[in-house]
Amino acid sequence: MNRFTIVGCSELVTLAGPPRPRVGAEMRELAVIRDGAMLVRDGRIVRVGPRREIEMETGTEVVDAGGRVVMPGFVDAHTHPVFAGNRADEFEQRAEGATYREVAAAGGGIRSTVRRTRAASEEELSAAASRYTDWFLRNGTTTMEAKSGYGLSLDDELKLLRVIAKIRPLRVVPTFLGAHEVPDEFRGRRKDYVNLVIEEMLPRAAPLAKFCDVFCEPGVFPVEDARRVLQAAKALGLGLRMHADQLDNSGGARLAAELGAATADHLEHTDAAGISALVRAHVQPVLLPGAVYALGSRHYPDARAMIAAGLAMVLATDFNPGSSPTPSMPMILSLAATQMKVAPAEGITASTINAAYSLGLGAEIGSLEAGKRADFVIHDCADHRELAYFFGIETARAVYIDGRRVYSKQHAW
Ligand code: NIG
Ligand code: FE
Repeated sequence: MNRFTIVGCSELVTLAGPPRPRVGAEMRELAVIRDGAMLVRDGRIVRVGPRREIEMETGTEVVDAGGRVVMPGFVDAHTHPVFAGNRADEFEQRAEGATYREVAAAGGGIRSTVRRTRAASEEELSAAASRYTDWFLRNGTTTMEAKSGYGLSLDDELKLLRVIAKIRPLRVVPTFLGAHEVPDEFRGRRKDYVNLVIEEMLPRAAPLAKFCDVFCEPGVFPVEDARRVLQAAKALGLGLRMHADQLDNSGGARLAAELGAATADHLEHTDAAGISALVRAHVQPVLLPGAVYALGSRHYPDARAMIAAGLAMVLATDFNPGSSPTPSMPMILSLAATQMKVAPAEGITASTINAAYSLGLGAEIGSLEAGKRADFVIHDCADHRELAYFFGIETARAVYIDGRRVYSKQHAW
């Protein structure tokens, strides 16, 4: 039986609260316990409180956090971690002035990753994914939503979903993203590809996925195509997520609301009417400032308007080889604070408890409360605000999933 008490927490950031995502001023309430302690048994949290109130049972191991912040592992609710190769070449072209759309129109972008990913074996893709999941762990992420979307044929999409199912030791939520781009062999025949996604891919992918996502964008899958794919996914019992209004305000947020999606992601160009539609339908916005930063567009989504409207905002990395090659949630908290005026506490709420609810896991993870899974991180700082303040460093010192230590920082001395 695995049983231990963690002590020496300068701040035990519990995020305890009502059993629902946090909105408005609640997003700043982290329910911090100073000099806190937490008892863990068999992978679950048993008790949380001030050190003096958590009695030490004899024979229970004590883990000393050494006066550091202890908080729930980050829940990264939007990632694309399974792909072959990378796009450092396109990154260089963009640094020299080309735009993301120009690179894609010339056959690069998502389609260039698709060509390489199709040519890679399942083992090669698993090896690459495990390199990346290590990066997530080192940045304090314990759960990741993971999308397919670089296969774009029945066999290749199933290959990606099998690789996603094997990702360890992070907790993984699989999403089918067959409608990520129109592959080379369907150029000019988008409707035929949409039919293939609906008729052949979705029925086979559904048992391997919890959600279905679509890249809804005028030049990729316009609203009417996205609606057909997502309606078919819903009929198969999948939850819905959407890449919406990333490059244009094309009604993506309104479609997410119409279909009752769990989330609408990106939203860089969503207008006030789109935000109102999300509020009415209780859709959670997933904001991805890493993609705005790395594409250099500077067109950040209006986080303040979304919080003011009462939306249960989520922040995620969008880790992918094109628009957002970062696995670091602390980097996202930094961008959210500096570019979108999201307070560090709001950023932490958005990337833990709110993210957990967006994945349907709010009762299990995302906060440190009795009965929940012991997914937590000891960060190398004494104040939670430092997570967003310092940037470009790995703050996680030890990472636990289901009460098991899965990562511990090695020191050179
Ligand atoms: O979320 N926009 C679509 N999908 C990704 C980019 C994927 C890529 O460029 O490979 C995104 O930004
Ligand atoms: Fe994405």
